[in-house]
Amino acid sequence: MQVELAKSAGFCFGVQRAVDTVYKQIEENSAEKIYTYGPIIHNEEVIKDMEKKGVEVILSEEELKQIKSGIVIIRSHGVPKRICDLLDENGVRYVDATCPFVKKIHRIVEEKSRDGYHIVIIGNREHPEVMGIEGWAQGPATIIQTEEEARAFELVPESEKVCVVAQTTFNYNKFKDLVEIISEKRYDIIVLNTICNATKERQEEAYDIAKRVDAMIVIGDKRSSNTQKLFEICSNACADTYYIQTLGDLNMNQLRSVETVGITAGASTPNKIIEEVQNNVRINF
Ligand code: F3S
Repeated sequence: MQVELAKSAGFCFGVQRAVDTVYKQIEENSAEKIYTYGPIIHNEEVIKDMEKKGVEVILSEEELKQIKSGIVIIRSHGVPKRICDLLDENGVRYVDATCPFVKKIHRIVEEKSRDGYHIVIIGNREHPEVMGIEGWAQGPATIIQTEEEARAFELVPESEKVCVVAQTTFNYNKFKDLVEIISEKRYDIIVLNTICNATKERQEEAYDIAKRVDAMIVIGDKRSSNTQKLFEICSNACADTYYIQTLGDLNMNQLRSVETVGITAGASTPNKIIEEVQNNVRINF
């Protein structure tokens, strides 16, 4: 059997940076309580390891309000501006591990909304990154995820122009389609494609491999939106696509009759898990 591992599988730059930030804080500030605002990445294995080292995950804004000391780490998804303001007001030290690509969107949104643009965020409104981006708008902001929503979009009366940005992990083709619908309305519009290249490259490579192989394995946490998207893309190109969190979820019997297997993994999947899956598939066949 031939096994092909995607070069772009696993941690992206922003996630690696956020994870490294947590371990660096554990090392340098062992006397202080360390918190992360939300799980630092969507990966149970990594979170468990950090918890063992004393890191506590804060799950809500209410909980965050109670924190008066220690260090709070902001994850790569970023947060709304009011969270930074809250921490400043409470005098709590925080380390901002927001991915620089997401931070750039915050700056665009803040600046353009101040200049009178109605902000449109193409993305999933349930995703913390999108909530964070929305939280930097200084005026009207609309989140659009579907074609129906794009068709129904109207500028608020006090705005004349619109600035479109995207969730970094959004599917590029869907983004293009939604932008096309909004553009038909002939508003004064600027479109900034803020989809991260790491995501696009991972998606393109995954699709490319999935087209060629008999079976495809997508590794990542079930809650990771970019892994879900990878799974969707691979499933469209290869009917035998399996979504697993760890090696334990892989049913080797399903791979018995195939000759070629492709492997890819979401942005929050540690290398250790990817290697484990790859080695076991290779050994077993
Ligand atoms: Fe950043 Fe792109 Fe990763 S935006 S967190 S490098 S997917």
